[in-house]
Parts: sequence; structure tokens; C-alpha cells
Amino acid sequence: MSEVRAFIAIPLPGDVKAGLMDARHALKTTYGRSARWVGPENLHLTLKFLGNTPEEQLASLEEGMSRSVAGTGSFTLCLDRLGAFPSVARPRVFWAGLGGELDRLESLYSALEKELVKRGVAPDRRRFAAHITIGRVREGASVAALPGIELQRLGFTAKEVVLFRSTLKPGGPLYTPLTVSTIGGIV
Ligand code: 2AM
Repeated sequence: MSEVRAFIAIPLPGDVKAGLMDARHALKTTYGRSARWVGPENLHLTLKFLGNTPEEQLASLEEGMSRSVAGTGSFTLCLDRLGAFPSVARPRVFWAGLGGELDRLESLYSALEKELVKRGVAPDRRRFAAHITIGRVREGASVAALPGIELQRLGFTAKEVVLFRSTLKPGGPLYTPLTVSTIGGIV
């Protein structure tokens, strides 16, 4: 049975990616090669990581995705601040947090999660924490706490949800859009 490594995410406009690249530049001056940095083409807001998914299940998941986004209108978000998982004192993942209509984003996430679980996807064990990953500290590297770095509060409209295929390559993952659902569209 053929499987596709997949995830569902909200794509970001070019100016937001440019703002994130500025923050990435500032982070690089502190962390350099201790982290792997996300290229602009790979920046997105993940809603659900599906992992290895049987190819024949994809059509049903796409239908669930399109049902969940049809029920809501587009909404606005903005970049808010830089943070790190698990903590700013011991960073492993650098991310940009979001502001704006987070309640609308969370409703969309819940609707999507419900439709996917109905179709056999395992529910997320952790609470949804909206973030955009900018870099990941390399295994074994020990790094300093996250310094205060300015993040431009750029706003954007969440208009689309995309099912991506993730192909793991030696130079980093390649994300290919498979299906686009318009928020507020018709199923
Ligand atoms: P992250 O942004 O928090 O790292 C594609 O890999 C996307 O799926 C990434 O943005 C990543 O989220 C998310 N993801 C969630 N769980 C994952 C996992 N176990 N392995 C890889 N990616 C995961």
C-alpha cells in the first residue's frame, strides 16, 4: 500500500514570509549553524500533521478538509512575537506566535480536527498551539536562551487551507501542495 507523508496548513503571503526571514536573520546571528533554518518556501501555519497516510485515504481527508473550511469565513491574523519550544531558556524550536482573530483560527482547527477524526485520523494529544516554525536546533547542540528579537506585527488574511505532501530529502523537506480548500468556499 502506497503512503504519502502529509500535513494540513495555512499558507502565508510573501510580505509575512519576508518579515519572518528578517527575524530568522536576527536569530542566525545568535545561533548560526546550531539550528536548521526554514526556507521561505517552507514557512506555513500547520493545522494538522497527518504523517504517513495511505494514498486511498487522501480523497476522504480532502473532503473533510473542505467541509471544515466551508463553515467559516476568512479571518485575519498577525505575527505577534518570537518564542521557543520547550521554553525560551532552553530553545529547541524557534517560532513566531500569532495574534488577531485567534478564536476563529481555533474554531477552524476544531472543525478540521472533528472531520479528520471522523475519517479515521488519530486526534491530537496536545492542545493546538498556533505557531510558525522558523528553525530547529540541531540534535546534540546546546544553545543560549532566546534573546529579545523584534518581530514586525505583519497582518494577513487566512483564505486557504492546503493539504501538503512532505518529501524528506537530505537537504531538507520538500512540501508540495496537493489540494487547496478556500475558507468559506462551497463543498
Ligand atoms: P512544526 O511547525 O511545529 O515543526 C510539516 O512537517 C509540518 O508538520 C511542520 O510544520 C511541523 O510542525 C508539523 N508537525 C507536527 N508534528 C510533526 C511530526 N511528528 N513530524 C514532522 N512534522 C510535524
